[in-house]
Formats: sequence, structure tokens, C-alpha cells
Amino acid sequence: MLPVNRMKPQSRASSSWSPSGVDLADSRRKPHFLWRTIFTALLIIGCILVLKHSSGHRVTTAFSQHEHGVTHVLVTGGAGYIGSHAALRLLEDKYRVTIVDNLSRGNIGAVKVLQDLFPEPGRLQFILADLGDAKAVNKIFSENAFDAVMHFAAVAYVGESTLEPLRYYHNITSNTLVVLEAMAAHRVNKLIYSSTCATYGEPEKMPITEETPQHPINPYGRAKKMAEDMIIDYSKKPGMAVMILRYFNVIGSDPEGRLGEAPRPELREHGRISGACFDAALGIIPGLKVRGSDYETADKTCVRDYIDVTDLVDAHVKALHHAKSGNVGIYNVGTGKGRSVKEFVEACKKATRAEIKVEYLSRRAGDYAMVYSDPSKIKKDLNWSAKYTDVEQSLATAWRWQKSHPNGYRL
Ligand SMILES: NC(=O)c1ccc[n+]([C@@H]2O[C@H](COP(=O)([O-])OP(=O)(O)OC[C@H]3O[C@@H](n4cnc5c(N)ncnc54)[C@H](O)[C@@H]3O)[C@@H](O)[C@H]2O)c1
Ligand SMILES: *[C@@H]1O[C@H](CO)[C@@H](O)[C@H](O)[C@H]1NC(C)=O
Ligand SMILES: *[C@@H]1O[C@H](CO)[C@@H](O)[C@H](O)[C@H]1NC(C)=O
Ligand SMILES: *[C@@H]1O[C@H](CO)[C@@H](O)[C@H](O)[C@H]1NC(C)=O
Repeated sequence: MLPVNRMKPQSRASSSWSPSGVDLADSRRKPHFLWRTIFTALLIIGCILVLKHSSGHRVTTAFSQHEHGVTHVLVTGGAGYIGSHAALRLLEDKYRVTIVDNLSRGNIGAVKVLQDLFPEPGRLQFILADLGDAKAVNKIFSENAFDAVMHFAAVAYVGESTLEPLRYYHNITSNTLVVLEAMAAHRVNKLIYSSTCATYGEPEKMPITEETPQHPINPYGRAKKMAEDMIIDYSKKPGMAVMILRYFNVIGSDPEGRLGEAPRPELREHGRISGACFDAALGIIPGLKVRGSDYETADKTCVRDYIDVTDLVDAHVKALHHAKSGNVGIYNVGTGKGRSVKEFVEACKKATRAEIKVEYLSRRAGDYAMVYSDPSKIKKDLNWSAKYTDVEQSLATAWRWQKSHPNGYRL
């Protein structure tokens, strides 16, 4: 673990404690020998105490103490796509943020952007650590005074999860347990959890409400469902305030162009449709391969609900604001509108103004025909609704960042 933060540890040792500031050798006063000895002994004890305090592992920083009026949020996975956008929004809203990420999938470049935007002491710190390392996580919780946790860190590709299920149960389910245990041990009571519509599997009825039965059909969805179950069971503990957000398909990036989505090149093959669209527009891949054109939908391609990341992080801030102790809030975060892959491809062509070749292949295992949300519960309870609902616009914003960052966050 390597804490990389901009705080300079404040030393408690003050120069006025130095023996040189006391005139012990003043012979004119001729102090009694006993008093001199006692005074010197006290001085030495004082120095030892001061040194012990300042050299001990518990260095006092803005992050290690609760401060009235300041909410300190632990953002796990804050170097990733959604987590970095959430951290940016929290910082803009005057929250204090600690990002914990082991950079296995995220980008230190995203953290650097945030650090450059918020260099003031006590705003943002980054800690490189693996959430699978319970000892390291416990140390982070003991050294920092968190008021809430937004838990984004995970592995998040459906296709990869079918190939490497243990990676998913480990880095989603088991790591969430580590976070919950640390929260319990250090009495952090507020949790906003990143869940997914993949926990519903392939429901019979559309749109998907929060009451739609959850029957996930791949290890990713099952690992997230198991994490949800643990969180819900644990949330019965008095004082816990929990919000579970089930996102639909996330697209877009910061409208001001400060952050973007930059998965590792080696993860491209597992990638999501927006990444593939940009890769095709950049000529990194020859074109788009649409898997399945025989679904029972209007234009025979799959239908999904695309939610812009700016709307999504707004839902997180509202969820944090409305999180009530003794309550678990479960919310779909989507637009409520389904778009077909064909529509998406058209929007991608327009947004990038690139000639994109499209090839239609057979269905991919584990894909379902139609998924879209009923977002009325979150509208009613949190007064949240999607504002960036024009897919072409969202893609155009993301495309601007992609074009100006052809190597992602690497310069
Ligand atoms: N992108 C989507 O469309 C989508 C949809 C539904 C749900 N989600 C959920 O949103 C969350 C964020 O997804 P994302 O798209 O930003 O993914 P991402 O891969 O960009 O970000 C995940 C971050 O978590 C970090 N991480 C992973 N394992 C870690 C570990 N063991 N210790 C420390 N850090 C670790 C990675 O380094 C990365 O920075 C995930 O929980 C994901 O399941 C995403
Ligand atoms: C991140 O965590 C994984 C285990 O989950 C580990 O293999 C890898 O070395 C870690 N990376 C860093 C930079 O800590
Ligand atoms: C996830 O868990 C596996 C162990 O199953 C580990 O090898 C891997 O490094 C972990 N981290 C990531 C980011 O996959
Ligand atoms: C709900 O949000 C809208 C903006 O999206 C705002 O104008 C309105 O005042 C909010 N209503 C309440 C009750 O907070």
C-alpha cells in the first residue's frame, strides 16, 4: 500500500519545546540543584512524548478526523471510468474524497486530473491498495475518518465473467465482504453500492422495476447479486444507511472533457459497445461486429437502456443525500427508454462522423433480447431523472475526449 496524497503530515513537535529555548545555564539565578534535576527530567519526558506522537503511525491530517460540515467519502475504484466521474462530481460539490484503487483496471492519469483540479489540502487523497487485502483495507479505515463509502471497484465484463468466474466472485463478492467488514469494524454506516441490471437476468416482463425477480444468467450478474444479498442482510444492523443502485448501460463522459473512459487495450475484446464504436471510428478495429440480428425486437437487434455517466453520478449524489439510517433503498438507474443496437450504431456514426463498417454475426451466448428500466421509483423517492437522454449527444461528448486522447490517459 502506498498512500499518495498531497497532504504534508503535520508534525506536532513545536520548536518552542527545544531545550535550547530554556536558559538552564544561567548561573546568576543559581537554581536549587533538585529543582534543576526535576525540571530537566520533565523536559526529557516531554520531548520523548512529543517525539513518540509525531513519529507514530497515526499522523493527523484532514482525512483522519471527522470535520463538522464536511462529508468524507471513500470512493473505491475511483481511478476507473464511473468512479473517477463520481469523484469529480463529489469534489465539485465540496465533499472530501479518498480514492482507493489498485489500478488493475483504472488509470492513474484520471487520478492526476482530479489532483490537478483539487490540489488544496484535505480535498482528495489517493491510496493504492487492493480491496482483496483485508489487512490493508482495515488499515485504511483506521487511519481515515470516512462518513460514507461509494463502492465502485469491481471487474465488470459479462463475457470475461463466463471465462473467469472466480475472478468475478473474488473481486466482486469477496471484496465487498472485505469492505463491509471494515465498515462494521470502524462504524462507517453509509454505503452506496454499484449494482447492475445484470442481476435481473432476462426478465419476462419489460420494463424492469425494482420488484422484477432477480435471476442473473452469468457469473458477473450472480456475483453482484450475491454482493447485494450480503449488503441487504448486513444493513439490518441498526444505524446502517444503504443505497443499492442498479445501473443499466453506461455511456458518455464529462461534458467539460476532463475525464473519459479508457479501459486497458488488452480488455478491448471484452469491451462494451461504446468502446467498440470509438475503436472502429479511430480505425483501431476494422469495424463493428453486431452479435445477433434475429432477436424478437423491432429491427431484430438487441435493445438496451443507455444511461449517461453524468446522470449516473448525479443519482449517486442524490442517493448519498437521501440515504437514511435503518433503510435500504434499491433503485434502477436508467432512462426508461430502450434503443436497439442498430439505432446505437447510427448514433455512433453521426457522433463520430466516421464511416463505420458493420458486420452482422450470430448471437453471443448470454445476451438477452431486450432490457430497459422503469425509472419511476428513483424519480419519486430521489427526484432524479435522466437529462442526457440523447445517445448521439452522449457519444459525441465521449468521442471528443477519445479523439483528443487516442492513447487514453497515457500521453
Ligand atoms: N460500465 C457499465 O456499464 C456498468 C454497468 C453496471 C454496473 N457497473 C458497475 O460500476 C462499477 C464501476 O464500473 P466501471 O465501468 O467504472 O469499471 P472500471 O473497470 O473502469 O473501474 C473499476 C475500478 O475498480 C478498480 N479495482 C478493481 N478491482 C480492484 C481491487 N481488487 N482493489 C482495488 N481496486 C480495484 C479498477 O482498478 C478500476 O479502476 C463496477 O462495480 C461495475 O460493476 C458498470
Ligand atoms: C491488484 O490486485 C491484484 C489482486 O486482486 C494483484 O494481483 C495486483 O498485483 C494488484 N496490483 C497492484 C498494482 O497493487
Ligand atoms: C481478481 O481475483 C483474482 C483471483 O481470482 C486475481 O488473480 C486478480 O488479480 C484479481 N484482480 C483483478 C482486477 O482481476
Ligand atoms: C426536483 O428536481 C428539479 C430539477 O431536476 C427541481 O427543479 C425541483 O425543484 C426538484 N423538486 C424537489 C421537490 O426538490
